[in-house]
Amino acid sequence: AFINYNHLCRNLREMFKIDAADYMISICGNSALRELSSPGKSGSVFFLSQDDRFMIKTLRKSEVQVLLRMLPNYYNHVHTYENTLITKFFGLHRVKPSSGQKFRFVVMGNMFCTELRIHRRFDLKGSSLGRSTDKIEIDENTTLKDLDLNYSFYLEPSWREALLKQIKTDSEFLKSQRIMDYSLLLGVHYRAPQHLRTRASYRRTMTAERLTVLSEEDAQEDDAFNYPEGLVLVQRANDENSVVVGPHIRGSRLRSSAAGFGEVDLLLPGTARVQIQLGVNMPARAEQIPKEEDSKSFYEVYDVVLYLGIIDILQEYNITKKIEHAVKSMQYDSVSISAVDPEFYSERFLKFIQTVFPENS
Ligand SMILES: *[C@@H]1O[C@H](CO)[C@@H](O)[C@H](O)[C@H]1NC(C)=O
Ligand SMILES: *[C@@H]1O[C@H](CO)[C@@H](O)[C@H](O)[C@H]1NC(C)=O
Ligand SMILES: *[C@@H]1O[C@H](CO)[C@@H](O)[C@H](O)[C@H]1NC(C)=O
Repeated sequence: AFINYNHLCRNLREMFKIDAADYMISICGNSALRELSSPGKSGSVFFLSQDDRFMIKTLRKSEVQVLLRMLPNYYNHVHTYENTLITKFFGLHRVKPSSGQKFRFVVMGNMFCTELRIHRRFDLKGSSLGRSTDKIEIDENTTLKDLDLNYSFYLEPSWREALLKQIKTDSEFLKSQRIMDYSLLLGVHYRAPQHLRTRASYRRTMTAERLTVLSEEDAQEDDAFNYPEGLVLVQRANDENSVVVGPHIRGSRLRSSAAGFGEVDLLLPGTARVQIQLGVNMPARAEQIPKEEDSKSFYEVYDVVLYLGIIDILQEYNITKKIEHAVKSMQYDSVSISAVDPEFYSERFLKFIQTVFPENS
């Protein structure tokens, strides 16, 4: 009942060095898949493999068509841009239960495959209509949206530049495939609450980046309590196995200007030593966007670790979406609605992402 749909998928798995046997065991081994509360209104069902490495999503017929049409170009894009942030697809499979209708599902890399806890997750599109959560209780499993985002994220300038450049390249690819309605999925790990600072005190104590670089020896000598405030980078480990990476990661490591443009790992005392790549384990500073009525001296600043990817890339600007655009733009400002043509969509998306990651001030 398990049919491998396309040899391109096998090539994709090879590109990401996913062992064929491991893959089969993760997806259809004896341990049950975990069903996730479905975040979307699409009606798709989501599962996580027991080892956390893969995300599985059932597809509608229209999504299968889009994926098959796009697959060769998708393959080329992922092959050319090793740091692409676009969802990594590893397989498209078809299941025919002995009773019932056949259905298709896609296997993707789980962007949040990390030892660190993701405390908040945001799905960002750049449109505003209906873009806030309707949940009252917000926890780590709530998918928050554009209008819920009360933070700006500050990255090391060279990382910010690389990130925005890659997002631009990726959204131009999606535009070329007539895709719209995709999102930037942003996972935020907040460091311990003792790192919480008011902006004023934070400014007093910090260097521009709030990143400290330790040598390997210093890092080993220092115990966790002697660590400087903020996030600590160490020169990259030679031992490839000492760092944690997800299955969807290929690409090169990021270099830090704070370490003379050497490759670095992020050291999280008591937790892990992790490899920093574009979209994976990215250290940043989150600053609360003050509400108008707030006194200016009390915004919160956190040290955070970010996970980013571009998801939901199987919606084309089809006739249904064109009609939705026409109907909604009679009622609402067409800048605020989600159903817009791919060109406008990607422009608006990029503009918004730039505001989420402002230049360091
Ligand atoms: C979030 O979801 C996971 C698994 O789906 C569950 O184990 C966890 O308890 C949930 N967390 C909260 C705060 O509800
Ligand atoms: C962000 O701010 C808005 C308005 O100031 C508020 O309604 C919303 O609850 C906040 N969201 C979060 C996640 O704190
Ligand atoms: C367009 O896409 C939507 C959402 O994926 C789908 O429900 C609809 O059937 C598609 N329309 C056509 C004409 O393929």
